[in-house]
Amino acid sequence: MSFPYQIRSVDQYKAAYEQSVRDPEGFWSSIASTFQWQKPWEKTLEWDFKKPTIKWFAGGKLNITENCLDRHLDKLGNQPAIIWEPNDPEEHHRVLTYRDLYNKVVQFANVLKNNDVKKGDRVCIYMGMVPELAIAVLASARIGAIHSVVFGGFSAQSIADRLQDAQARFVITCDGAFRGNKEIPLKSVIDDALVQCPFVERVIVLTRTRTPVSMIKGRDTWWEDEIKKVETQGSPDCPAEVMDAEDMLFILYTSGSTGKPKGVVHTCGGYMVYTNYSFVNVFQYQPGDIHFCTADIGWITGHSYIVYGPLSAGVTSVLFEGVPTWPDAGRFWDIVDKYKVTILYTAPTAIRSLMGFGLEPVQRHDLSSLKVLGTVGEPINEEAWHWYDEHIGKRKCPIVDTWWQTETGGILISNLAGVTPAKPSFATLPLPGIQPILVDENGKEVAGNGVSGNLCIKFPWPGMLRTTYGDHERCRQNYFATYDNLYFTGDGCLRDEEGNYRITGRVDDVLNVSGHRIGTAEVENAINMHTGVVESAVVGYPHDIKGQGIYAFVIFQGNMQDEKLVRLDIASTVSRIIGPIAKPDKIQFVSGLPKTRSGKIMRRILRKIAEGETDKLGDTTTLLDPGVVEEIKNGKL
Ligand code: WT7
Repeated sequence: MSFPYQIRSVDQYKAAYEQSVRDPEGFWSSIASTFQWQKPWEKTLEWDFKKPTIKWFAGGKLNITENCLDRHLDKLGNQPAIIWEPNDPEEHHRVLTYRDLYNKVVQFANVLKNNDVKKGDRVCIYMGMVPELAIAVLASARIGAIHSVVFGGFSAQSIADRLQDAQARFVITCDGAFRGNKEIPLKSVIDDALVQCPFVERVIVLTRTRTPVSMIKGRDTWWEDEIKKVETQGSPDCPAEVMDAEDMLFILYTSGSTGKPKGVVHTCGGYMVYTNYSFVNVFQYQPGDIHFCTADIGWITGHSYIVYGPLSAGVTSVLFEGVPTWPDAGRFWDIVDKYKVTILYTAPTAIRSLMGFGLEPVQRHDLSSLKVLGTVGEPINEEAWHWYDEHIGKRKCPIVDTWWQTETGGILISNLAGVTPAKPSFATLPLPGIQPILVDENGKEVAGNGVSGNLCIKFPWPGMLRTTYGDHERCRQNYFATYDNLYFTGDGCLRDEEGNYRITGRVDDVLNVSGHRIGTAEVENAINMHTGVVESAVVGYPHDIKGQGIYAFVIFQGNMQDEKLVRLDIASTVSRIIGPIAKPDKIQFVSGLPKTRSGKIMRRILRKIAEGETDKLGDTTTLLDPGVVEEIKNGKL
């Protein structure tokens, strides 16, 4: 496919940007009109950040799967849509052409229909990285069901919370998942979650690991048996449900500064247009590209840049089941060479971890197919940037540092590969349509260049979130209430003399651990559930590989004969409540926490201690018990 809105020069970027600000509706209309609509939209944009109300292309009817599949069949039917690389390199890979993927999506869409899934129903998908995960996502979209993919590393409790919040009556899972040398018993985790979710009517289970699972009569059914049923029914077709541009496409849960994850809602039309537009421009897609995004579909990066963005552009998307370090640290590079990958999109934490294995795993590979490299998820340090540039891109592949969030749907700030200049550790410039603004604590604009502030966006773009599921007020509070008439990202940011943006990290109580967002309050709640724990405070600290590590200060009044064991117990509780990704890296037992006279924990002080900057604690005289700070300092791990 070719895209009239692909920007090919700095001048075109400037012109597109200028038009997008002067005439946002005209700008986005002309892009949106290149997609396949069943009925044109009535109103391009309606918005009010105070409520917030955001509607793009309202009244327009479409189905995103027609844009990702049907419209490609004529020309790209025989081109691979998905190349699946299994966890075990000895196992055969699978190639699904656009035709194959289309067939499988409509087939599974019919399975969903047979199981009484209707438009608007929420379907929870908890699977490993197998092609059927993408098929389940697209099949839900095909019939207008709202998918809620839960990352395979989350615990039963986390799944139960999400199922309850979304009131999902349907679950799609696997018996198990392979990840490196581990086997994760997904169905068994689902079974534990469902103890708290009697409203779940149907669980469809794909066979992957063939690990023994319990299958409850009337509730659980095998994916393969369901497929057989639709095969005998004949009709291999499944007309795409007519969706309004503003109908919900999916919910994706993400952490914030409160204890409970929120369900970020994206809608059909705007999300489709924005993921496609950002994909085509940031990565400078060319026909024949093989795109390898190493994220999991359980996160927004996988939704937008493994599934919807690439497929809507007709690209070949590589889906990898395993991990970067198994069977050895050359696995990504094996995949690049095996499939002649042209675009590689990964996370700084993966790069840093692979750097630790030295150059040997890289040097035994060719890597000459690569044209564009990308990073996402956290600020990339210069050392990792240069390693990526030198050893992977051989100094000939532009690196795009893409800043965005679950809430933004797609990339907002990034250089465009080979078109606009890169600057190590800078996301650089906003995409056309994106109007960033920096503000101080009081919401006053910090204008000009060479300044820093809190990053907000002052005008809507098609891919932005519309609400948080079931609780619109929470959406307003979280994103639109801190500063009047602005979307607040939660990130701190610096703008250099040339106007390039550099994201400096979260300014709220949210951690970024290995590119995964984790709320400190969420971890504290989990720690506090452990018997003997009186109170806890969690902060982040710099971690060589993860970016941020989790440091927990814990007041414990239980049996403390073996400190090490108690630490493991607490970590295990956190793992059970949230998932292994939220396990604290360090747990320091303390007799008290630094609090203001009104009882608020002074996190600033704890953060400084965790960061090892004990000489920069600032004023501690207003504390309830200044003595406790000395004790904590001395006990630092
Ligand atoms: C947070 C969003 C967007 C997909 C992955 C994470 C941080 C993301 C960058 C970047 C600096 C980045 C921000 C943001 N972040 N990309 N290129 N440079 N920081 O999605 O879980 O919604 O997290 O990740 O702090 O707010 P997420």
